[in-house]
Amino acid sequence: MAINLFVTGTDTGVGKTYISTGLLRALTQAGYTTLGVKPIASGAFRHNNILYNQDALDLNRASSIALDYSLTNHFVFEEPIAPHLAAKNIGISLSVDLIKSRLDKTIKIPCDIHLVEGIGGWSVPINDHETMADLVLYYKMHVILVVGMRLGCLNHALLTYQAIQQKNLPFIGWIANCFEQNDLNVDDVITSLKHWLKIPFIGKMPFGEKFEDVIDIDKFTSQSLYHRTKKPVVCHRDILGVNDPTD
Ligand SMILES: Nc1ncnc2c1ncn2[C@@H]1O[C@H](COP(=O)(O)OP(=O)(O)O)[C@@H](O)[C@H]1O
Ligand SMILES: [Mg+2]
Repeated sequence: MAINLFVTGTDTGVGKTYISTGLLRALTQAGYTTLGVKPIASGAFRHNNILYNQDALDLNRASSIALDYSLTNHFVFEEPIAPHLAAKNIGISLSVDLIKSRLDKTIKIPCDIHLVEGIGGWSVPINDHETMADLVLYYKMHVILVVGMRLGCLNHALLTYQAIQQKNLPFIGWIANCFEQNDLNVDDVITSLKHWLKIPFIGKMPFGEKFEDVIDIDKFTSQSLYHRTKKPVVCHRDILGVNDPTD
């Protein structure tokens, strides 16, 4: 049975894509079929007059299944601003229903693990009454929280943790990501967070290291995913064709 993972973070720029691509590579190496998705992205470049977002391209490249770009990134906005504002500026009213109508097709693609990267933090609005969390709730995705290790992250982590718990979603665990070099005493902060966050601690990602070199993927899958997925026999990167302009 497929599992839908949702990777959220304590903020934008804390390492959601870094962790997501690492996790996709590690799961692929462990023999799972994987598919990384970025349903909404703001901040994009043009190639042959088509907009591409770098996160979506990176997720696609890290997956075992290569998809046409439009199935990896359903809404892409050129401006690197809040998605509902970027959408409004080009006359689109984002809603959970609208996103579902496109994301459904990707989620239905047979695969062991769909990994969906959020946009910004947990409660990013997609219009005046819905947030990304409502989309996660609709699909009952399994949430992974990336805590960006910097001053202020205790507050951000606790607020995000509480908001996710309120939705009663399956919570896989959290990762301490050292996404920048700073003076924080990371191990002390991790000890405090372990006390407050009553969910599994997946691991600490030191600055500049690769996910697959640091996180024990067999332990992760056996503790978090084992009973929800089955191992595939083969993985092909070209099952559904590739539309990556930079390949
Ligand atoms: N553990 C890490 N070590 C080194 N650089 C990192 C690490 N995590 C994130 N980064 C870098 O920090 C920046 C922001 O990370 P990114 O994954 O794009 O964040 P998000 O997806 O949450 O916006 C990127 O340049 C990324 O390469
Ligand atoms: Mg990202």
